[in-house]
Amino acid sequence: MQNLEEVQRAADALRSLLGKQADFSTAEEGGPGHHAPVGIVLGTGLSSLADMLRNRVSVPYGEIPGFPASGVESHAGVFVWGRAPCGDGGGRSVLVQQGRCHLYEGRSPADVCMGVRVLAAMGVKTLVLTNAAGALNPLFDVESIMCMTDIINHTGVSPLTGDNCPAWGPRFTDMSAPLDARLRRLALETATELGLRLERGVYIGVHGPELETPAETRMYRQWGADAVGMSSVLEIIAARHLGMAVLGLSCLTNKNLPDCMAPATLEQICAAAQKTGENLARLLCALVTKL
Ligand code: HPA
Repeated sequence: MQNLEEVQRAADALRSLLGKQADFSTAEEGGPGHHAPVGIVLGTGLSSLADMLRNRVSVPYGEIPGFPASGVESHAGVFVWGRAPCGDGGGRSVLVQQGRCHLYEGRSPADVCMGVRVLAAMGVKTLVLTNAAGALNPLFDVESIMCMTDIINHTGVSPLTGDNCPAWGPRFTDMSAPLDARLRRLALETATELGLRLERGVYIGVHGPELETPAETRMYRQWGADAVGMSSVLEIIAARHLGMAVLGLSCLTNKNLPDCMAPATLEQICAAAQKTGENLARLLCALVTKL
């Protein structure tokens, strides 16, 4: 579903709650020296980046009319505006959605995509989506980061179902390049500069909340997926509909091998996300100053 009025109301509220403190209005006007902020969605246990921002201003989702709460305890549920620190003391303007809601909480695709649509209404054109995911590629290590090269939407739903909103995008959104090649190149270059290993692969988004069986794991691998998770694919579709350039980064928190499945717990997944999140924050800070 495409809920233009609700999204506009939420974006207006967020803009006024961020207020002048965030010098967001100047960023949005796009005057000389001002760039539209980079939008970043932080997933499970990946809040380190928001803590690193300078001149931070936060707005809890509860203060934004109609904005869905983030249902998972490990997700903060707050928008944070700030500047990513960089050498010259300036810093790139960043608008972070810290915490998201999911289909498995019983939320609709419109709820799941509301954050991305609000970011677009705030002037964001470049979007970085992060998540925690299980590795399917046997060559990928736990606690490493994977840059998404492509996606498989296996949730069974789309955020573009129903009447199309032409102000947002076309009826039939092109998905021949869901993730932006230039952003991916910059991410790989930045990771190399920082001495971080960045894997590349296909992310499959599933409905959840149950984790995968061995047979499902084998099937997803045979379909060509390298990592599996319960978020991001609908947000990528909504972002592409809106014409945003998207980078997707997955923190690999556990490994799913069909012939030797090990039980995975939320505690393990969160602990691994926390560890990987520190490298992810370093990567994002260095990357956004190049955008
Ligand atoms: N499967 C689905 N979602 C996940 C996983 C997983 O193994 N790990 C983290 N999120």
